[in-house]
Amino acid sequence: MLWHAPVSNDSWLAEYKNNGEPDWKKGENQTSSIIAIKGIAPFNVYSTTFTLLKPGTTFQYRISKNGQVIFTCDAKSLKSPEQSYRIAISGDMGAGNSTSKKIAYEIYKAKPDMVAVAGDIVYNRGLVSEYTTKFWPVYNKDDADTLGAPLLRSIPFAAAVGNHDALTRDLDRYPDALAYYHFWDQPLNGPDGKEGGALVPVLLGPDANKKAFYEGAGSKYPRMTNFSFDYGNAHWTVIDSDPYVDWTDSTLRDWLAKDLAAATNATWRFVLYHHPCFSSSRAHYEQQQMRLIAPVLEKGKVDIVFAGHVHNYQRTYPLTFIPDNVGIQLVAGATNTRIGKTVNGRWTLDKNFNGKKNTKPNGVIYIVTGAGGQGLYNPEQTGDKDSWQKFTKKFESTVHSFTVMDVDGATLVLRQLDINGKEVDQVKITK
Ligand SMILES: [Fe+2]
Repeated sequence: MLWHAPVSNDSWLAEYKNNGEPDWKKGENQTSSIIAIKGIAPFNVYSTTFTLLKPGTTFQYRISKNGQVIFTCDAKSLKSPEQSYRIAISGDMGAGNSTSKKIAYEIYKAKPDMVAVAGDIVYNRGLVSEYTTKFWPVYNKDDADTLGAPLLRSIPFAAAVGNHDALTRDLDRYPDALAYYHFWDQPLNGPDGKEGGALVPVLLGPDANKKAFYEGAGSKYPRMTNFSFDYGNAHWTVIDSDPYVDWTDSTLRDWLAKDLAAATNATWRFVLYHHPCFSSSRAHYEQQQMRLIAPVLEKGKVDIVFAGHVHNYQRTYPLTFIPDNVGIQLVAGATNTRIGKTVNGRWTLDKNFNGKKNTKPNGVIYIVTGAGGQGLYNPEQTGDKDSWQKFTKKFESTVHSFTVMDVDGATLVLRQLDINGKEVDQVKITK
């Protein structure tokens, strides 16, 4: 659990208690990190852990400043492997526009136990100043209405970085860029790469700005873009699909393969990243770099891959894919900046699975759920099936939407709800 406060000598404390318990317990392992970057008033990010929660229940927590309680909240604890749960998944949701706000409200009304963000958390450059105006007021609004909802404070969030979160790396022009590393607190169990390697490119800008960023981000940078965790009976692997990452690199591929292979206790395996690799949209069609890891995901028995980036909803047939080669790198600009890869290959599609009578897919299902608020892409393709690639089973781009996934043991029901709460797709998967 995280909270922010201006830098001062104030004393802060987080406490919590399970429902019905008389006494408050102190949050464990409280830390704070000062973010002092050019152009932004210095602030502290506090972090604490509530370790003694009963799984899958509502609990209370409160924040005190100098001994005075200033904030109290109900929240949901993590689910145990035996409990059923509901996850909301959406990408491209941090535009701060009216549709993003309405989607936040609809997600709240769906009562998820957790939210997974498929990248492009905050537009347009993932800046600290943009979180302040476009993300906190919408996803951490005090009251729930069509302008937002108190989601961040009450249920866990996990997020993959998108291009709008991670491509701005010039700390001269944007000293408060890469705010992801300041504001998020996700597992640091991924590959530990170096700047300029397969994981991230080098940062640009004056040394003083870089130093301020490094001090604020601490050990989260650059590691926190690839990680995994367990929730309920599922294993989630969250990875960085930005075009600067080299997913032909053996260190990254080995980590991914090992991470999935180690999830032996998980009933379900989900992968979350930003750039979809099996998309029929004309927009961003050429950004197919994540096709390169399809065989790794298949071998790792991944059930569903969730992506955003393309602002609509798409679902593939269950499929397997063998890439022909390492693909063709697309570059742009005077600096030859990587913008993606085209990757061809061979597909095997399971057209027998229908998510109704036949609920056992043979292959990985790829979902694009990028209709979380930004302008929709290629709505004209929705009814034009001839424009769909052969792997696409469902394409909906006439309305904003988000994914709701209910998991109960070995049964999973995935629904796509539109901005008015109306169902636009549903499939059931069983083990
Ligand atoms: Fe994107």
